Amino acid sequence: MAARHSGPNRRQVLGGLAAVSLVTPAIAQKMRPLVAAQATAQLAPDGYAPTPVWAFDGTIPGPVLRGKQGERMRLAVQNDLPVATSVHWHGIRLDNAMDGVPGLTQNPISPGATFDYDLRLPDAGTFWYHSHERSFEQVARGLAGPLIIEETDPPEVDDDIVLMFDDWRFLEDATLSDDFGALFDAAHGGRIGNWVTVNGTGEFRQALPRGARVRLRLINSANARIFDLSFQGMTAHLVALDGMPTGLARTTDVVTLAPAQRVDLIVDITGEDGGEALILSRKRDGRYTVVAFPIEADATPRTDAPEGLPLNPVPLPETSAIQAAPLRPLRMEGGAMGSLASARFEGESLGARNLAAKGMVWAFNGTAGMPEAPFAEVSRGEVVRINLVNDTAWPHGMHLHGHHFLAYPQEGAAGWVRYPALRDTILVGPQSSTEIAFIADNPGDWLLHCHMLEHAHSGMMTWIRVS
Ligand code: C2O
Ligand code: CU
Repeated sequence: MAARHSGPNRRQVLGGLAAVSLVTPAIAQKMRPLVAAQATAQLAPDGYAPTPVWAFDGTIPGPVLRGKQGERMRLAVQNDLPVATSVHWHGIRLDNAMDGVPGLTQNPISPGATFDYDLRLPDAGTFWYHSHERSFEQVARGLAGPLIIEETDPPEVDDDIVLMFDDWRFLEDATLSDDFGALFDAAHGGRIGNWVTVNGTGEFRQALPRGARVRLRLINSANARIFDLSFQGMTAHLVALDGMPTGLARTTDVVTLAPAQRVDLIVDITGEDGGEALILSRKRDGRYTVVAFPIEADATPRTDAPEGLPLNPVPLPETSAIQAAPLRPLRMEGGAMGSLASARFEGESLGARNLAAKGMVWAFNGTAGMPEAPFAEVSRGEVVRINLVNDTAWPHGMHLHGHHFLAYPQEGAAGWVRYPALRDTILVGPQSSTEIAFIADNPGDWLLHCHMLEHAHSGMMTWIRVS
């Protein structure tokens, strides 16, 4: 049974008329063009030439697309690239046909062609969009951007700042290394770049007054890098994960941002005037600054603590229904320092050497690559419970399309909790497991894959059919 957990926003209070607008907006949404094409971007410091990239609307990251909860968003994606592409709207609980997965939900968009996407936007929050065609290459070349769905009643803040984290693998001259999908990366932690950017620059800075209260929307669009962030000169309150509000505003000192994950923070700038508030990222030997907010004047400091955001209308499974649902194991196998003696690939059983020759170094439940049959076939409304078992030496960021799930990372614990919120991408550490559960309320064929894009490309890919 579904328990509707939705925040008390104005729309629900008004009821009737407004509720209809969740499905059929009164005013038809205008079509927004979005062009994928070759471009250049000044990603490296001054003194280097701009880097040739593939970009949406010519910018890195792509333009911030903004919609309103309950409305629709229509986008005409025009492919001006020399190769086919597609766009996936990561985290949006949209209609399956709009999910942007070539071979599963649509044909790739040929060079010169346009595809019209029509997104339903049931949830407010921080999402993103990216290519889903050879994404290990196309995302690494720059085809990604933020997708922000605004609340009817946004929280009271002085500023709302999107911070899109990425990394790039540069050669000496700041052009991109073209070893996309290299087998060594695939078998290890994925393509890790040697240059980190936030909003397309290695030195993101924005002045803020001391005492300001600011919403920060952190998005990780890197192929494989896990950011481990901490804060200085500000008090950070965590309010949403993967676009889904936690309902709380808990203070937090560290944030882990795995590929494709998002974290919404409401921060109060507390540092000294003339100083800087910083976001630091951990590296092997210490921390380095990724975001700097020079503190300029004084704002009137807040005395109240920020409040949590209203919850999105995601139907949540009851504990009893989760316990009654069959537990479906999804075992991740392979990779460097792992054991993948053999696996099925495109209908054949192959040994490790033959798998590697075909670019396959990972498997789910003994199958490498996209299986012909779905991992699970369920009827609409069913509770799906999966145990993500990471039997490898590497962390994996597992992403489910079309749904958000409850995640419970402690094996063997008795109860289910909202820990710490609904997610669409969950990091499962080496040799550990995480149970997830959700109501399969969105009909269609939905991918379930590792969002370390080289891992997905070299075996970690499956799908779920909801009918
Ligand atoms: Cu963000 Cu299947 O991806
Ligand atoms: Cu992985």
